[in-house]
Amino acid sequence: MIISMLPVYIFKLGNEIINQNKFCILNFVKNFELVMPNNIISDKAKIGKNVEIGSFCIIDDDVVIGDNTIIKSYVELRKATIIGKNCYIDSRVSSSGNCIIGDNVTIRYDSIIARGIKIGDGTYICPKVMTNNLNTEHEQIGGAHIGKNVFIGTGCVIQHGIEIGDNTVLGSMSFINKNVPKDEVWFGNPAKFQKKIKKA
Ligand SMILES: CC(C)(COP(=O)(O)OP(=O)(O)OC[C@H]1O[C@@H](n2cnc3c(N)ncnc32)[C@H](O)[C@@H]1OP(=O)(O)O)[C@@H](O)C(=O)NCCC(=O)NCCS
Repeated sequence: MIISMLPVYIFKLGNEIINQNKFCILNFVKNFELVMPNNIISDKAKIGKNVEIGSFCIIDDDVVIGDNTIIKSYVELRKATIIGKNCYIDSRVSSSGNCIIGDNVTIRYDSIIARGIKIGDGTYICPKVMTNNLNTEHEQIGGAHIGKNVFIGTGCVIQHGIEIGDNTVLGSMSFINKNVPKDEVWFGNPAKFQKKIKKA
């Protein structure tokens, strides 16, 4: 009797906590989402079906998370961060908001997603990638526009306002301060063109 009532109780309690925008102190299930303890989730966030969220995350107003996306722990998604379907957002990723992340995107741990950034479908961002929004006068230029199926190596720094074409590879530890055309490999500090990517 008690066992059969328990899921209903958790479902109701979870909904109440999420709607009141308070600390969630219990695991709960809502519309097939699996959300772990100790998150702050705005009641104005839209969370798709089958989404998993770890612990100690902050999910602000107007955040959208697409179906089947996994959000690990200590992730901060600030206002109006839009994330597509089937994405993997690793631990300690932080988004400053007003940005659009496509479908099937992976963002590995400790990466920073600048305000205004756009990331195309299928792009893979390795750990500790930094993207910038401000210039040295502290003006908000906006984060880079990154194409589809781009691979960004570990530790890259991508300057504000940069355009990165589809299917490019940015080598690890590169400083990207120029636009990168599609189908090219760039690396270095500052990053330079290395070679064309041959299409299969
Ligand atoms: C950019 C990259 C894809 C190039 O791979 P590649 O075409 O096989 O290049 P090679 O390894 O043959 O290296 C060619 C030359 O470029 C240099 N080089 C390669 N990547 C470099 C980089 N990121 N920065 C500076 N130099 C680099 C190599 O040292 C080598 O120099 P040499 O000819 O003087 O010896 C690869 O080096 C890279 O950075 N991959 C990303 C790795 C990563 O971040 N993985 C994280 C997984 S989570």
